[in-house]
Amino acid sequence: MIIDVITPFPNLIQGAFQESILKRAQNRGLVKVTLWDLRDFTSDKHHTVDDYPYGGGAGMILKPEPIFLAVKEIRGKHSDTTPDIILMTPQGKTYTQEKARLFSRQEHLIFLCGHYRGVDQRVIDALVTEEISIGDYILSGGELAAAVVIDSVIRLLPDVLNNTDSAEGDSFTCGMLDYPHYTRPEIFQDMPVPDVLLSGHHENIRKWRHEQALENTKKRRPDLLNNNEEAQDSSD
Ligand code: ADE
Repeated sequence: MIIDVITPFPNLIQGAFQESILKRAQNRGLVKVTLWDLRDFTSDKHHTVDDYPYGGGAGMILKPEPIFLAVKEIRGKHSDTTPDIILMTPQGKTYTQEKARLFSRQEHLIFLCGHYRGVDQRVIDALVTEEISIGDYILSGGELAAAVVIDSVIRLLPDVLNNTDSAEGDSFTCGMLDYPHYTRPEIFQDMPVPDVLLSGHHENIRKWRHEQALENTKKRRPDLLNNNEEAQDSSD
């Protein structure tokens, strides 16, 4: 998979791709992530990427020219792909695990990080395929949001996760929150691990985990269960 990120602040997220699972996935050639500095596509001596809004008002707007040039450069490098161009913005559709799954099946994605007040509308009209928000709160820019989305996509790519960090039991993967986890010691500060987990009885363990996940979801996120009768039925 190819992932390109266009941003005026690449340093904000560079580190996110140089550690742990994301680093390993790139080193193994499973994904190629490239950060493009929007300022490299400017022609004035101050490398200006933003300007005042027509009509007045607070905040600056990302200019269209550098973004169009960056996209042109990326497309020129990958003429064999037709990437979706995803604008990270609080105006976007709320991101979900289902969307992560869909993105992970794409060959090439370009993320555009909004900043300041927003992006010139002509970028959205002519280039952007989709606008995505990671939640109803405002970040200083789209970089951290893009890093969140990219992390969740890469971990779903084939062969990225080994058995130890498998995505199979992730919360949301089966439409529910996770069940509780324990590791050694068996008793810690008078708090024992539930007997069933020490029983070696795989079917009972599976059932217990399912019940716990269901309880957890009912208590904290009942909305998840409304569309997911399957999760509630599969305890037996
Ligand atoms: N940029 C600023 N806030 C954001 C959010 N919540 N999601 C995506 N991009 C953003």
